[in-house]
Amino acid sequence: MKIAIASDHGGLDMKNALVQHFAKQGFDIDDLGTNSTDSVDYPDYADKMAEHILAQKAELGILVCGTGVGISIAANRHKGIRAALIYDEFVAQMAKAHNNANIIVFGGRTMNIEDVIKYCTIFINTKFESGRHQNRLNKLDD
Ligand code: RB5
Repeated sequence: MKIAIASDHGGLDMKNALVQHFAKQGFDIDDLGTNSTDSVDYPDYADKMAEHILAQKAELGILVCGTGVGISIAANRHKGIRAALIYDEFVAQMAKAHNNANIIVFGGRTMNIEDVIKYCTIFINTKFESGRHQNRLNKLDD
């Protein structure tokens, strides 16, 4: 499975920790930046990620900004993107089972890496339930 990961400066440390973790786990990783602490604009990284996912260059995207809010808003402006800001185990499960999110989002300044790795693992190991949920997803893009 290929995972693309991107962040702004507010999510840089968490992004790098996630890249390290998932590479060690044997996942194929596309690191879309940012790669320095210089201040950057989160919409640029959300756009880069959305284009990457929509072009099917990776199966899952992970985005991180300071709170996860700005970069979620930006990613969800793209038709076909379902970016879910995840903040607990139940939401991690539902974001896949019901929403089939193609990008999961975290706050680098509001969450700790252990929790975020736990949420990512739950999300990756959960199956989309389809059925009535697919009908609802279809309405998002109609
Ligand atoms: C950057 O300072 C910060 O505003 C950004 O990372 C994010 O939290 C926006 O929602």
